[in-house]
Amino acid sequence: MINELEKDIDRVLFSEDDIKNMVKKVAAQINEDYAGKKPVLVVLLKGSLMFAADLMRSLVIDCEIDFIKVSSYSGTQSTGVINIVSDIRTDISGRHVIIVEDIVDTGLTLYKLKELLESRNPASLKICTLLDKPSGRKADVYVDYIGDVVGNEFIVGNGLDYDEKYRNLPYIGVMRN
Ligand code: IMP
Repeated sequence: MINELEKDIDRVLFSEDDIKNMVKKVAAQINEDYAGKKPVLVVLLKGSLMFAADLMRSLVIDCEIDFIKVSSYSGTQSTGVINIVSDIRTDISGRHVIIVEDIVDTGLTLYKLKELLESRNPASLKICTLLDKPSGRKADVYVDYIGDVVGNEFIVGNGLDYDEKYRNLPYIGVMRN
């Protein structure tokens, strides 16, 4: 069957194999850094869904997962305002927390989220992202684990959307204009 979404994709940026390798690389670092620590992965919905599932399967340490949903985007432009749409249930006080993000662009979402989670007194708080878009940065956030870096292009697939579309593409591609 022909993929209905492919006609809108200009070119593939990361194949399924590329994504697997990025996940492996990040997981290996987390496995090493968190051995014996039982971290909580706080997954930012919805875009990080695929990455979080892949990452968790590659972790060999004891860990937990929870989900948070914030709204910050409409179309391709960051609004710089976040609202907590749905919060985590886990009490993260005294816990090692890793925020799992799909792509860091302006960094505003993570800046705000970090502030919020830090106020709950975790033992530590780090950020892990599949992709980093440093050219878009507006807030000063340190990203601890990065799968790969992308340029200033709008990309979709493997969880990343454009107005809720293309999340189910198994690869990551640049949209046709
Ligand atoms: P920011 O870092 O606060 O600007 O927002 C990051 C969020 O914006 C990510 O979690 C994505 O949901 C979305 N985003 C940023 N760049 C892209 C892109 O190229 N494609 C799809 N979503 C993106």
